[in-house]
Amino acid sequence: MRTAIVAGLLVAGLALAGPASASADLAKSSGCMKCHDVEKKKMGPSFKDVAAAHKGKTDEAAVVAKLTGGKDHPAVKASEADVKAVVKWILTL
Ligand code: HEC
Repeated sequence: MRTAIVAGLLVAGLALAGPASASADLAKSSGCMKCHDVEKKKMGPSFKDVAAAHKGKTDEAAVVAKLTGGKDHPAVKASEADVKAVVKWILTL
């Protein structure tokens, strides 16, 4: 009951913040922005470059698997659900 109310408030809050900034915040809290930037190349490619490289492909699940697999990408500490949400956002940039 209580959880439902909190979840409801969270959803309302996310809706108010807008999906894009909520995703940007999630990318930040997930530690992605230590190595990535939306516009600029840092240790990893910019998220705009990633989106361009994947344009027209439907390989979202493969990208998530690469990030959570811990082999072809530096280990990420975020949950798989969070990584999924962030990747979905990146591929729309
Ligand atoms: C320790 C640094 C580091 C962190 C933290 C990090 N990345 Fe990366 N990322 C990289 C590097 C380096 C590459 C380029 C090499 C590669 O593709 O694995 C990369 C590549 C990527 C790619 C392109 C993959 C492809 O196949 O085109 C995506 C998408 C990505 N990162 C998303 C994320 C997300 C989302 C997070 C947070 C959950 C994150 N990264 C955290 C360093 C990092």
